[in-house]
Amino acid sequence: MTTQNKILMRDISKVFITEQMETHALRGVNLNINDGDYISISGPSGCGKSSLLSILGLLDTPSGGEYFIEGKDVSNLSVNERAGYRNEKIGFVFQAFNLIDELSVYDNIALPLRYRENPMSDADIKLQVMQNLEKVQMSHRTGHKPNQLSGGQQQRIAIARALVGSPAILLVDEPTGNLDSKNGDMVMDLLAQLNDDGATICMVTHDPRYGDMAKQQLHLLDGQMAELMAMQEAV
Ligand SMILES: Nc1ncnc2c1ncn2[C@@H]1O[C@H](COP(=O)(O)OP(=O)(O)O)[C@@H](O)[C@H]1O
Ligand SMILES: [Mg+2]
Repeated sequence: MTTQNKILMRDISKVFITEQMETHALRGVNLNINDGDYISISGPSGCGKSSLLSILGLLDTPSGGEYFIEGKDVSNLSVNERAGYRNEKIGFVFQAFNLIDELSVYDNIALPLRYRENPMSDADIKLQVMQNLEKVQMSHRTGHKPNQLSGGQQQRIAIARALVGSPAILLVDEPTGNLDSKNGDMVMDLLAQLNDDGATICMVTHDPRYGDMAKQQLHLLDGQMAELMAMQEAV
């Protein structure tokens, strides 16, 4: 394993067991994400995309297999360890933005830093918030509330919030799902720009047009991963 290795998954499985049946959501998934990669994972409804993203983002644990983030084994962390590690290492961007309506743009972005185990000074927080607002070209909207912004602007704020803690990886779930095509294209252009500037990105989408914008396209089918030689095989 090299230091370039951001994410390494080996033979990851996820089984959901209910009284009625066992569902094998993921079967032997291997995934290797290196520094600076931009990967898209697409596949039909029910193929396991959300299950995989939950495990990648330390929201859930695998039933089997090994998972390393920057060389650290995170396959079997306790709930508390996972929460702390998630705050430091993972940046999430969701389809529904998930901003807090009562808080200003500034406070939404500052929030992850205020939950740090080792508290940051207000001056350091301000520096990080303003730097990341600049990256998404929203420095002129610090005092606005989310509902005073367009959908595209809200997603840019959500991206700044995801980036503010300098995460190992940005996990992006259907980032354009709630946007019209103009704003969707703008958000996708921003992700490409952030990747050019060094961000490591893993995006889940069912939209092949947007999946295509990633440098590497993976396809998930029935809980198993397949790298595509050509996109037309996916549809
Ligand atoms: N909490 C759960 N309990 C039982 N089955 C689940 C649960 N979550 C997902 N599944 C099942 O696992 C499979 C994969 O689901 P999911 O990861 O949500 O797929 P996708 O996001 O690609 O639509 C589906 O068959 C789904 O019904
Ligand atoms: Mg899903």
